[in-house]
Amino acid sequence: MDPALFEAAKAVRLRAHDRYSGFKVGVAIRTAAGTVHTGCNVENASFPEGWCAETSAIGAMVSSSEPGDARRIVAVAVVADAIGGRPTTPCGGCRQRLAEFGSPDAPVACYDPEGRGATFPLADLLPQSFALKDGQ
Ligand code: THU
Repeated sequence: MDPALFEAAKAVRLRAHDRYSGFKVGVAIRTAAGTVHTGCNVENASFPEGWCAETSAIGAMVSSSEPGDARRIVAVAVVADAIGGRPTTPCGGCRQRLAEFGSPDAPVACYDPEGRGATFPLADLLPQSFALKDGQ
């Protein structure tokens, strides 16, 4: 686990707008250019209009960088409470969004705020993924 990425995700988690679920999620992504982008979940009174922390972090990356290494995800940290003793992992839609920018071997570290969890390669979270083009 990348300690700096974990700390960034843990910190941004506290900014979650989680007034409906009470479930805070923080995400930090590191790019091939060495930059780090963070995001938290943003919920809405119209429930389906809320979005995940991964989506916020990807939006921050894309809106602040040019195409190329600065948009290639090489590592991800997800910080949220464990559910039923299992680490919180990205939802299906966010796995697809991460795959758009992440290399298949990018580690996705899923930890609770106390540092308990597990790390999965992105390709293990989204095997046989849909893609229109190879890589980024
Ligand atoms: N959520 C995330 O932000 N990321 C995940 O990986 C899983 C779920 C959010 C969405 C919603 O605001 C809350 O967690 C409860 O589902």
